[in-house]
Amino acid sequence: MEFRKDLDKRPSYDVVEKLWRIKINANECNLNLPPLVEERVMSRFSSVAFNRYPNEEYDSLRDQIAKNFGVYREQIVIGAGSSEIIEKIFYIFGGNSNNKIVYPTPSFSMYKIYAQAAECDSIPFKLNEDFSLDIQKFIETVNDSHANLAVVCNPNNPTGNGMKIEQIKILAENIKCPLLIDEAYIEFYGETASGLLKDFPNLMIARTFSKAYGLAGARVGYLITSKEIAAMVERAYMPYHMNVLSIVTADIVYQMRSEFVPRIQMMIAERKRMASQLKKLPGFKVFPSVTNFLLVKYPFAKELNRRFEERGIGVRSFGNAPGLENCLRISMGMREENDIWFDVAETFSDEISMQHPELDTEGMDL
Ligand SMILES: Cc1ncc(COP(=O)(O)O)c(C=O)c1O
Repeated sequence: MEFRKDLDKRPSYDVVEKLWRIKINANECNLNLPPLVEERVMSRFSSVAFNRYPNEEYDSLRDQIAKNFGVYREQIVIGAGSSEIIEKIFYIFGGNSNNKIVYPTPSFSMYKIYAQAAECDSIPFKLNEDFSLDIQKFIETVNDSHANLAVVCNPNNPTGNGMKIEQIKILAENIKCPLLIDEAYIEFYGETASGLLKDFPNLMIARTFSKAYGLAGARVGYLITSKEIAAMVERAYMPYHMNVLSIVTADIVYQMRSEFVPRIQMMIAERKRMASQLKKLPGFKVFPSVTNFLLVKYPFAKELNRRFEERGIGVRSFGNAPGLENCLRISMGMREENDIWFDVAETFSDEISMQHPELDTEGMDL
């Protein structure tokens, strides 16, 4: 058999999945839909036209999002998760090895894979030690390489830090190619770049229903951009690429998004609580986060991850990934879940500290 060239060399998304007792490895929401929202979704399902292709439903969701952002329906594209939206964006600006895509590293590990799938050249741009982006150098790299697309994840996954809107504006003003801002975690932060859309037709904002709105299983994301770019992204899709059940679910979730505010606030409060507790453990460095997860560096991260696994707790370990050595990313679960995994971490840390009294808590907070 002859498969597509280099398909076997494409890196895979390396998440260890099993039936975890506490699943905090994918930045999902550990609560299912609010009961009121679930009720509305279930009742909407009973009137779904299963026999029809989803035209009206697709437009209804686009209209709602467009109205919220004060843009036209033609500026919104819906995809199966923002993953698919981002993949299509890489596709429309890729196509051959002369086309270049610049993105920071460490960041969302899928960018490299999308670039490879789009058969273009990727230029990873190294973040500073504290994971901030050197704006001027990034602009120079993008412009000097005559890149076709620049990508910034804000707030950044897996590091958790966020850029200020003024910094995004400097990027949009100076980068000479289209700029994608991946706002998968924006609901936990608030500093959206959406206000810049009217001034920068080359700007794209990818959003997801998977994180703050707890719809990872339904696979829905959206893009807000200029009519011109949106039309090209639509062209990259096959007709009727979204299924009606996911669209109507997202439609209701979006209508009822105020129902999600208390849980978003709860996740933020949990993140702050867990960060301050972790910082007290000797040897733990907790990176500042404006998301629903924490990135933690610890010299015994691998061993701690093993302990978590033994206890049925799934966190994301980055092994020896460049810039993320000895790092674990922990998504915020419910308060009781957070207490359980912290207990495991604290006991482990007590054991290690007995053997390694040199570990202390000083200077561990960046
Ligand atoms: C930064 C970032 N972008 C995009 C996605 C994709 O999310 P989804 O395809 O579920 O919308 C993720 C998921 O983890 C993410 O972390």
